[in-house]
Amino acid sequence: MPSMEQPLTNKKILLAVTGGIAAYKAAELVRLYVKAGATVKVLMTKAAETFISAKTLAILSKEAVLTDAKQGESSAVEHVALGRWADALVLAPATANTLAKVANGLADNVLTETIMAATAPVKVLAPAMNDQMYANPATQRNLETLRKDGWQVVGPETGFLAEGYAAKGRLAALSEIMTATTQALEELSAEQALVHKRPLAGRQVVVTAGGTKEAIDPVRYLTNRSSGKMGYALAEAALAAGAEVTLVAATKRPYSPAIHFVYAPSAKEMLSAVQKAMPTADAFIGAAAVSDYALANPFEQKVKKSQPDEHLVLDLIQNPDILKTVGQEKKAGQVVIGFAAETQNLLANAEKKLASKHADMIVANDVTAPQAGFDKDSNQVTLIQEGQEPVSIGPKSKQAVAQDIVAHLVTILDR
Ligand SMILES: Cc1cc2nc3c(=O)[nH]c(=O)nc-3n(C[C@H](O)[C@H](O)[C@H](O)COP(=O)(O)O)c2cc1C
Repeated sequence: MPSMEQPLTNKKILLAVTGGIAAYKAAELVRLYVKAGATVKVLMTKAAETFISAKTLAILSKEAVLTDAKQGESSAVEHVALGRWADALVLAPATANTLAKVANGLADNVLTETIMAATAPVKVLAPAMNDQMYANPATQRNLETLRKDGWQVVGPETGFLAEGYAAKGRLAALSEIMTATTQALEELSAEQALVHKRPLAGRQVVVTAGGTKEAIDPVRYLTNRSSGKMGYALAEAALAAGAEVTLVAATKRPYSPAIHFVYAPSAKEMLSAVQKAMPTADAFIGAAAVSDYALANPFEQKVKKSQPDEHLVLDLIQNPDILKTVGQEKKAGQVVIGFAAETQNLLANAEKKLASKHADMIVANDVTAPQAGFDKDSNQVTLIQEGQEPVSIGPKSKQAVAQDIVAHLVTILDR
């Protein structure tokens, strides 16, 4: 087991250094990665060699540094081998020039050739440059492309630049680059553990997702801000863990073909689809934001305004409580997990919900937290189980949060 001080034990990091003034910081970054237990190999551009010597980086990493000159002397195709070797590819500092090359698939030196050939599942880059270079629309376009290509971009930060004034363009703090790398690798190993061990093989899991839509008239409905991203991520994580998954969703998003998908826009339709799937299910995860109210009598025709200042009063009645119903109807051995999206008194409300809904676990979600909640790509939650300490998760991607929730589901099912 890696110790707390060595979160990168057995991890292979390929650090690509380019020719900016911040290249000298690569020495300290190598030291930090090595101290965290990683094996680090460095490659650098010709321009980088004018800022820091390959020898310094070789001594600190205790590995040969690959440069254009070294590549020229070698008969082996080292850039391809190195690209395959790494668990994480870290481009730091990243010059505007190299960002542009990587964003456009250029491979004209040993560093860009290696990046093009790399298969590393984790890719982190930390730009560092003059503020005008950073603000240049071309650089911004390139960074956008790189994000879409799966690079995690760390920084730059606002600070004192080599030019002698404070502006945005300074390399992110090395601790931030370290944290981004470590977290991405941790998330990856959680995912790999679920995918490789398939602990839910032979299990059936029902997941709800999205914000329900309650008809007002044939063209209008009442809904909420839920995007469905968390529920879909849970369905995918349960599928990756080997489960047979029924996803009952009120919001349409892309999903894996192996998922059994049921579109259920209203709370009533959702309850009926869930009740149909539950008899053979091992677990229910209610991530949908179900409207508490629906119209007592939706209008049969489109509502039109007739007179100025006319008030329209909607008569709302309570919807069925899906989580509570599933909790009450659950059979021995079935596990029920509910979400509590709260804007205040998060833990107290979640604990109440645990008991009142007969749930085995509540995922408490402070939807007002900056990196959590509706329509975000990340989330931050607390898992509440009876008689257990609350477990905090995130902030991290909804996919990573989903993997952790599924890992807890596996533990509850195995109890
Ligand atoms: C003194 C000096 C400092 C530089 N600092 C940076 C920098 O911080 N960021 C950057 O993007 N380019 C910087 N440049 C420009 C790059 O060195 C230049 O674009 C080079 O072609 C980058 O090559 P590479 O991307 O292959 O390493 C600097 C140039 C000089 C002469």
